[in-house]
Amino acid sequence: MSKYIVAVVGATGLVGQEMIKTLEQRKFAVKQLIPLATKNSVGKKVKFKGASVPVKETKDSLFNGVDLALFAGGGTASQEFGWEAVRRGAVVIDNSSFFRMRPDVPLIVPEVNIKQIKKHQGMIANPNCSTIQLCVALKPIYIKLGIKRVVVTTYQSVSGTGKEAIEELQTQVKTIVAGKKVKPAVYPKQIAFNVLPHIDKFMENGYTKEEIKMVNETKKIFSDPNLAVSATCVRVPVYTCHAESVNVETMKPLSVDALRALMSKSPGLTMIDDPAPTADDPNRRTYPLSVELAGTDNVYVGRLRKDPSVECGYDMWVVADNLRKGAALNAVQIAEFLF
Ligand SMILES: NC(=O)c1ccc[n+]([C@@H]2O[C@H](COP(=O)([O-])OP(=O)(O)OC[C@H]3O[C@@H](n4cnc5c(N)ncnc54)[C@H](OP(=O)(O)O)[C@@H]3O)[C@@H](O)[C@H]2O)c1
Repeated sequence: MSKYIVAVVGATGLVGQEMIKTLEQRKFAVKQLIPLATKNSVGKKVKFKGASVPVKETKDSLFNGVDLALFAGGGTASQEFGWEAVRRGAVVIDNSSFFRMRPDVPLIVPEVNIKQIKKHQGMIANPNCSTIQLCVALKPIYIKLGIKRVVVTTYQSVSGTGKEAIEELQTQVKTIVAGKKVKPAVYPKQIAFNVLPHIDKFMENGYTKEEIKMVNETKKIFSDPNLAVSATCVRVPVYTCHAESVNVETMKPLSVDALRALMSKSPGLTMIDDPAPTADDPNRRTYPLSVELAGTDNVYVGRLRKDPSVECGYDMWVVADNLRKGAALNAVQIAEFLF
């Protein structure tokens, strides 16, 4: 039954496009799709269920009658139109960071804290892409063992920055291979053949805003202000999927095999963790890889091992598609729960 009028703000962007694809793939009951963007996109069309739907410039009045508004138009669009869409009757699921830390806006990862959605007042926030995959991986550990401290280093793909960043990487690779000098525009420094320990702007304490977001959002999602989290966020020249090196110190011990078995049963989580080569195939080593997992739905964990430097601690490697579980899929899962 197609029941709902659904607006997608940022419909021409990477996340907006993935949202439209995800709504169709998961057969969300869309009666009418309203793709919205800036006035620069008027005249463009998006594909949905075999039809070409014209993109409109985002305006307050276009939210009249809308049941669900998925926002992926950046912080400015969310600030300008988010609550206005709620006032006009829509439930808004917002991908920007603008409302995430407001106490009246639940910050939801369905596998982790769906119960917190009950408090919503029309606006629900989707967490940062790196935070979502971290929380899905931590959830079974948090419940079974308790977590004292998490130290995470991210390896974030360029699609996490948006469509212009993909073009920048492609252009820089061609320019460098041709022996010419690059002129960074989207990123502060060269991204091709490089790693940048710099995502979003630097704060007074030396951390970047992306790192602070990961810390604060993780505490909010687990409703645990005492959860100790330290993050270093790094951009790498990978198109899609964020990878994370995660060190977790727990309150209680558990063998690595038992932890692996526990995590493999956790919703939304898949273990890819068999690094030992076999006698007949010395190259067969399995761990999560960005290039193999782009376009898939789950959060993948591998390289799980006991950290010998503390009594109860583990290291692991966590990978997920930032456009799917890190953005579009998480938003559509929230919508599926609500509707
Ligand atoms: N990329 C990710 O992995 C990821 C993950 C989690 C969250 N997010 C968040 O999702 C949002 C979109 O990211 P993206 O990667 O899809 O960016 P993107 O590829 O650059 O696309 C941006 C989209 O927003 C539209 N837009 C920009 N300003 C607007 C405005 N004032 N009003 C209405 N629409 C506007 C653009 O329209 P035009 O094409 O007309 O310019 C375009 O459709 C951002 O808030 C981002 O932080 C992204």
